[in-house]
Amino acid sequence: MGVARVRAWLQTARRIAVLTGAGMSAESGVPTFRDAQTGYWAQYRPEDMATEAGYRAQPGLVWRWYAHRRALLRGVAPNAGHVALAHFAQRHPGRLTLITQNVDGLHQQAGSPDVLCLHGDLLADRWLNPPRPCCHLEDSAAGEPPYCSTCGNLLRPGVVWFGEALPLAVLEAAQQAARACDLMLVVGTAGAVYPAAGLARLAREAGAQVAVLNPAPSELDDAAHAVLRGTAAQCLPALLAPADPQE
Ligand code: APR
Repeated sequence: MGVARVRAWLQTARRIAVLTGAGMSAESGVPTFRDAQTGYWAQYRPEDMATEAGYRAQPGLVWRWYAHRRALLRGVAPNAGHVALAHFAQRHPGRLTLITQNVDGLHQQAGSPDVLCLHGDLLADRWLNPPRPCCHLEDSAAGEPPYCSTCGNLLRPGVVWFGEALPLAVLEAAQQAARACDLMLVVGTAGAVYPAAGLARLAREAGAQVAVLNPAPSELDDAAHAVLRGTAAQCLPALLAPADPQE
């Protein structure tokens, strides 16, 4: 009953916002934050490395830790849930806004356009200090972050570190999508981390239908008009399948 009801909402909603979390990538086998802490890396605490202060203190170490986490992603591919979201967006241009807390790049890899990455992108780099005209990349020693030989600026991973603000333009676009949507689908998030989790409440307060898809209870269940107990790769293809095979 639940899937048919939410599927009917998806088919009639003019504007859809989708908020995803780590559970979206679980069936792709994405290593969690803690999975990376094995072997040599087990001696370090992510909280000490995933911060600007930690990076400035030991840039080479932290850069090598991110290289390790990126390597762990190499064997990982989008699952049927990522693909279903991408295909729906391709069939209905401009109708679905995808907002993710994930940094694994799997929505983008599956073909979803214009993904709003609230917590950044593990596969992207950016300058540590605001770039100056001189900033261009020099090849660095293996395992060391690329840098600018003129001013010493370093590249850093393009993820949001503990204590950092979310990228403002991305957050504002996500809040706008939450306010404007007729339906918000929340997939694979515990709903414990703000401001991301607040988007579901924002959508509900603005009058949208809210549906949660999660195999386990989450902190957003009480904000939902419908809760589907299922997984992303199993349920999203059924929810998002074309109404008409010719579609
Ligand atoms: N399909 C859908 N949901 C799933 C699946 C699945 N196959 N497997 C697990 N889940 C659900 C879990 O029940 C849980 O509610 O995914 C959720 C994952 O919760 P978290 O691991 O807390 O991930 P998330 O909510 O995305 O965390 C938010 O916190 O760790 C920081 O910045 C990090 O973006 C992350 C943020």
